[in-house]
Order: sequence, then C-alpha cells, then structure tokens
Amino acid sequence: MEFLELIVKEVVPETKEAKSYVLESSDGEPIRYEAGQFLTLIIEFNGHDVRRSYSMGSTPGIDERLFITVKRKENGEISRHILEHWVPGTRVKAVPPSGRFTITTDPLHQRHIFFLTAGSGIVPVFSLIKSVLASEPRTHITMLYQNHDETTIIYHRELQLLEERYPEQFTRIDLLSHPLLHELPSRRLNNGLLEQLVGYHEPGAFQQQRNKPPTLFYTCGPPAFMRMAQFTLRLMGYEEEQIIKEHFTIPVLPPPALIIDPQPRKVLLRFNKKEYEYEVVYPTSILQAALDLHIELPYSCKAGRCATCTAKCLSGDVKMTNNEVLTEKDMERGLVLTCVGYAASDVRLEFGDPDM
Ligand SMILES: Cc1cc2nc3c(=O)[nH]c(=O)nc-3n(C[C@H](O)[C@H](O)[C@H](O)COP(=O)(O)OP(=O)(O)OC[C@H]3O[C@@H](n4cnc5c(N)ncnc54)[C@H](O)[C@@H]3O)c2cc1C
Ligand code: FES
Repeated sequence: MEFLELIVKEVVPETKEAKSYVLESSDGEPIRYEAGQFLTLIIEFNGHDVRRSYSMGSTPGIDERLFITVKRKENGEISRHILEHWVPGTRVKAVPPSGRFTITTDPLHQRHIFFLTAGSGIVPVFSLIKSVLASEPRTHITMLYQNHDETTIIYHRELQLLEERYPEQFTRIDLLSHPLLHELPSRRLNNGLLEQLVGYHEPGAFQQQRNKPPTLFYTCGPPAFMRMAQFTLRLMGYEEEQIIKEHFTIPVLPPPALIIDPQPRKVLLRFNKKEYEYEVVYPTSILQAALDLHIELPYSCKAGRCATCTAKCLSGDVKMTNNEVLTEKDMERGLVLTCVGYAASDVRLEFGDPDM
C-alpha cells in the first residue's frame, strides 16, 4: 500500500492538554480526505511500530491546511509521546485517510443535525460542522459539547466565530461538569438532560414536515457517553440509522468462538492493482493472514470499529465476529471488515473500491 509520509508543519496549542498539528505530505501532493475522517499514524515507539488514529479537525474545501488535534490521555503512551516530542519538521508514516463518520451534504437539504460530543470527540465533529454549515444553508445544527471546565474546551474561539457567522443555523450548548465560574451551573449530559435538550431543540413541527430528510445524530466521546446517547435516542424513538457513531477507544476482543469449520480456505485478493492468493485457516482472520505474509493491507483498530480494513467480497462467504461500523446497506453491497472477517469458503475480495 502507498503509505503517506507526513511532515509536521506547525504545532498549535489548543488547551493545556491538547495541541493541533498541521500536516503535509512530504512529496507536496495534496492529501485527499472527507470531513470527519481520520489518519492512522504508524509511530516508531520503543523499537516497534504502533498505530494510533487521529481525526482531522480541518475540513477539505474550507481549511487550506490539514490538521489533527491530539489530546493527552492519562497514562497514554502515544498521545504523551506526540505532545512532548513532535515539533515542526517531525516526520511520520500514516495510512491514508479513512473512516465512515462522514456526511453527504446537499444544498437543498433542510434538516436538523445534532452533534453530541465530549472532550477530544470534538475533533471530527468540528470538521463535519464546518462542512455542513458551508454547504447546507437551510439545515440547523445543534451541538452539545461536554467538557470538564472552560479551559478544556478545544476550538473554543473557532466555535464562537462559527456561532457569530451562522447565528440562525448553529446552536452551541456547552456543558461543563466543573465550571470555574461559579455562576455557571455544573452540568453533565445524562439521559434526562439529553432527552430534555433534544425535545426542546427539535420541536415536533420540525420533525413532521413531509419529504424532509430525517434528523441525524452524530456522536463521538468516551464509551459511557456514547452508550448513554445511543440508549436515550433509541428510547426516544429515533432509528439506528439516524445515529452515526465514532469510537475513539478500541475494545479488547475475546478470541472468536468457533463459528466456522477450521479448514484451509483460499483467499484471492486484489489490492493496489496486484493480485494475491493465500490460504487462511480459522481462527486467523483474512487481514491477519495477509499481514503474516507481509501483504501490507490497510488497518487500524483490528476490532471491527473503524472500517479502515474494509474490502468488497466478490464471491464466497465471509463471517464477521464484530461489526460496529458497516450498515445493513454496506453489507448488502458485499462490504466486509477483514480484521474480524473469517473465510467460511474460498473467497475473492477487492480492496480500494472507490465507493467503499
Ligand atoms: C477513529 C479514531 C479517531 C481518533 N481521533 C482522535 C483525535 O482526533 N484526537 C485524540 O486525541 N485521540 C483520537 N483517538 C484516540 C487515539 O487514537 C488514541 O487512542 C489516544 O491518543 C490514546 O492513545 P495512547 O497511546 O496515548 O493511550 P494508551 O492507553 O497507551 O493506548 C490506548 C490503547 O488503545 C489501543 N489502541 C488505540 N488505538 C489503536 C490502534 N490504532 N491499533 C491498535 N491498538 C490501538 C491500544 O491497545 C492501547 O493500549 C482516535 C481514535 C480512533 C479509533
Ligand atoms: S481495522 Fe478497524 S474495523 Fe478493521
């Protein structure tokens, strides 16, 4: 695969715990990406390569320069390494942008989009908000943004500028669990508050217009925050397809239970204009068998959460043990996650379909 080689052009402090990094490709070529996508960085750390994904806070077509924003994770090895060591001129290898936390915009759409976010979850949300505001003048955005206090709000000033520029279109609600200003209430988003705020900001009349695209909820934050949001919205009657999620944490998956007869299966794989043929035996995943043969397929989480390893199954049967990112429609089109995908027959796969 063509990895990117990136150079840090500028470092911009955001909060005490977060910095943005303006990145460029070392060959000077523009980096193609969609609002809401992420880069998977391959960082040499203590003698081996580790992968971590970071979303773009920038928006193509709006921001001239691509940037990511990294927030320190308590006892986190790589976030701390980046924040302490990256300076202008630092070089890093990366898997090209991927991810499905994206949106198809249409200037004729008139809809309501909620963004429910907390902490560094704002990074892809910020990218998406700028994209929607610029391209859907009749759409309304309500953003609920949970933080600890005023000083931990990433992109505070930039969000204020968006509020000033789009007063009719953009409603921003900051929720602070430990505000420094005593006159501000301490607020943490929970089921009751979310239900109340969604109900208030999406009055029934708005929902009931016919032929209107449905309200969407984009959510990105810590696991408990996202579980709460998902649970509450589903209870309120919103459909699964209306809730689009980006997980920043990678679960440790238990070894897959025996779901397939462990016989050798043939994998025929097309990737980067080359054909590969290899054998795989359950419980080795299709991705892992390729990596063991040094076929450098794209991947990030290896846990069925990010979609970086997506391929199209052209023939045969692939069983997945976890899927938190592909929709029913994607699967009907034959898309599979190879990191948690196991060959239940001989299979033929293709990576890099432009529609993936
Ligand atoms: C799609 C996506 C987008 C993200 N965007 C941002 C962002 O914009 N800003 C931000 O600050 N953080 C973002 N993160 C989180 C970021 O990738 C790191 O998990 C975070 O910085 C903590 O890493 P750490 O090494 O400091 O912490 P650690 O606690 O040392 O590592 C976190 C643990 O997560 C696991 N892990 C995380 N990523 C991977 C991976 N790619 N492959 C294998 N294992 C992994 C490892 O098991 C590791 O033990 C994103 C994560 C994902 C999945
Ligand atoms: S590598 Fe993330 S879903 Fe497969």
